Amino acid sequence: MHALPLFNPTQSFHGSYDFPEPQYLGAKHKILPWILQYLPNDISTVLDGFGGSQSVAYALKQQGLAVHTNDLMQFCHMTGKALIENKSATLSKEDTSVLFAQNPLRQNQVQTLFQGIFFNQEDSVFLDTFRTNVDLLSCPYKKALALCVMNRSLTRKIIMGHFAHLQAIPYANNPDRIRRNPSIAKPIQSLFLEILPQYNAAIFDNGQDNISYQNDILTLLPTVSGIDLAYYDPPYCSSHADYQAFYHMLETYGERWEDKEFRGGTKRYYPPRHSGFDKKRDVELSFHRLFAASENIPHMLLSYNCRSYPDINSLIEIAKKYRHVIAYEKEYTQSRGGKGSVSGSKEYLLVCRK
Ligand SMILES: C[S@@+](CC[C@H](N)C(=O)[O-])C[C@H]1O[C@@H](n2cnc3c(N)ncnc32)[C@H](O)[C@@H]1O
Repeated sequence: MHALPLFNPTQSFHGSYDFPEPQYLGAKHKILPWILQYLPNDISTVLDGFGGSQSVAYALKQQGLAVHTNDLMQFCHMTGKALIENKSATLSKEDTSVLFAQNPLRQNQVQTLFQGIFFNQEDSVFLDTFRTNVDLLSCPYKKALALCVMNRSLTRKIIMGHFAHLQAIPYANNPDRIRRNPSIAKPIQSLFLEILPQYNAAIFDNGQDNISYQNDILTLLPTVSGIDLAYYDPPYCSSHADYQAFYHMLETYGERWEDKEFRGGTKRYYPPRHSGFDKKRDVELSFHRLFAASENIPHMLLSYNCRSYPDINSLIEIAKKYRHVIAYEKEYTQSRGGKGSVSGSKEYLLVCRK
């Protein structure tokens, strides 16, 4: 065991707030206590470099730390802005009236691209109206919260919680499937109203100026300073690493892209953003660059999985060129589906110090 004074995750400063349950490939919300126990005590500013659902960033915010969170994807950044950066803005009844109001100027992107693939006509019109109305909210945090809650409503609505398949509509019309998962047949507006209170209740001020970024972590790192600890949870290369394939619809919806091609049966946008961590040909070099660019950050925690490429021993070899490394492991005993977190697979945490 290493001799650092360890954080006590039960001594949370803001433990009365609950992170709304995400459905996101590779989200760490179920193993947070295991990760948090490896936080050293002598830190005040932290960076979650691959924030995703923001489950780890939120737990760090709860600890009273100043949190910088980042993700390549806009829809993850919206969650970061809504739940991490935002101190107090919530969505009121008046706000939802604005968001749900008929709008003759509504755009028609969802109707054009995704109607008949993921949504029926009524939901497509509702989504187009809602997206147009988001821009009528003047507070940027309310806008982010509206998109964040909508994105979560959509991962509840679409079977399997992602957009890399064509089963959404057949399953939403299948009584057996509906019995098992009633959300897939509910109108999106009711799903939104059902989960909104959990999100409103999750907004709090931890006394710090937290920031959410949307950037490639390798581009972001040279621009940030004063970070005491970085937490990195990159895509698990070779095991569901292509987040842009799974969540393309949310990204197109948030960005309102018009200058992309929309390819294949699911209408995935092209060209994708460059990740550097999702393809075998890039990933080792990206890890070298990640460690090198983190040179001024004293502490680093890195999540990894036994199904990832390169294997854990190769990753430790890379890490050791830059840091003192201790690897901890945890076996997943229950299948939660998706991205490595299946029964019998191992999750690793590399505790890396300078
Ligand atoms: C394993 S997930 C993170 C899960 C997160 N810890 C959670 O609890 O939800 C990996 C994330 O890395 C993001 N990502 C991929 N390439 C990136 C890059 N170059 N820079 C920043 N984020 C990236 C993906 O969009 C995805 O959200």
